[in-house]
Amino acid sequence: MEIKVHLTDHPKQKTPDAELGFGKVFTDHMFTMDWDKQHGWHDAQIIPFGNISLSPACNVFHYSQETFEGLKAYRTADGHIQLFRPEENFKRLNNSNARLAMPTLDVDFCVKALKQLVEIDKDWVPHSEGHSLYIRPFCIATEPNLGAHNTTMVKFIIILSPVGAYYASGLNPVNIYVEPRYVRAVRGGTGFAKTGGNYAASMLAQEEAGAQGFSQVLWLDGVEQKYIEEVGAMNVFFVLGDEVVTPELRGSILPGITRKSVIELLKHWGYKVSERRITVDELMEAYKEGKFTEMFGSGTAAVISPVGLLRYKDFDMKLTDGKIGELSQKLYDELTAIQWGKKPDPFGWVVPVC
Ligand code: PLP
Ligand code: COI
Repeated sequence: MEIKVHLTDHPKQKTPDAELGFGKVFTDHMFTMDWDKQHGWHDAQIIPFGNISLSPACNVFHYSQETFEGLKAYRTADGHIQLFRPEENFKRLNNSNARLAMPTLDVDFCVKALKQLVEIDKDWVPHSEGHSLYIRPFCIATEPNLGAHNTTMVKFIIILSPVGAYYASGLNPVNIYVEPRYVRAVRGGTGFAKTGGNYAASMLAQEEAGAQGFSQVLWLDGVEQKYIEEVGAMNVFFVLGDEVVTPELRGSILPGITRKSVIELLKHWGYKVSERRITVDELMEAYKEGKFTEMFGSGTAAVISPVGLLRYKDFDMKLTDGKIGELSQKLYDELTAIQWGKKPDPFGWVVPVC
């Protein structure tokens, strides 16, 4: 399919990297494409970034039929721009779309469209250490119809946002508590899909955590409320003696691409990595025995985010003396070196743009 290109006549002033924060500044262009039952995907175009006009009756506004992705473009020291595992994101978008009863996309076409968009806005990819271009592809159900049935119209959009660190604390450890009351997802539901409803359902818990000085909550499973799941925007890893444990994928947590990369890296280095069920009780026991020594989250926005304090009810697990743990640092250094092209990429994860 041909991609029509209409460039802006009014390029925006760029925000200095130090003032970017996360997800508040957008580049000059965006990619859009429409789908309807009759024509399939059509009208692929790169157009100036701007507001879109939709009927207030669109399904997405009423029934949350929406999916999204998050990935990044990085500027290398010699000025090239590269993506990290973009085809994984579009494959996951397709899994999310399938669960949300929306049409899937051609992964190769999406990667091609994304490369073209990023190349057009390449001057927006930040230059500073730790900064990158966050990419947000998303699909919304756009049929104007209040009937609660599947949509016949979908819009796919990619927007780009130059960003710094996701957490204001940067690489400093974050404090997290295990959510004792609310749950995020259940197996058979939409937990494995990247869909807005999962995040809407998490906002209240996150707000309550914030009011108590915690960055995010760690979710427990939705049935027994004893197995560890994930954090609001990250998968989680625990160092327990000589084992690195991460909750296994059972349908209720997001199959993170950073998670997958961390597992591959750890195996490559010869660590014992287990994807298995793990209870909060097991964590507390391991902590009491001195075996639970480190915890970190993994995610595109959060990269590798060390956890300094994990609280469950009134039990505090203090980790790594408020400093970044050894393994978190090692993983952060290796992953970001590959992403920013400072080290060779033995895994074939990096995709050059220009
Ligand atoms: N879990 C949730 C709920 C997320 O929102 C994210 C972020 O995308 C992740 C995990 C990490 O996924 P990834 O590493 O693909 O960014
Ligand atoms: C990402 O890491 O890409 C995410 O989608 C997390 C989001 C909540 C910022």
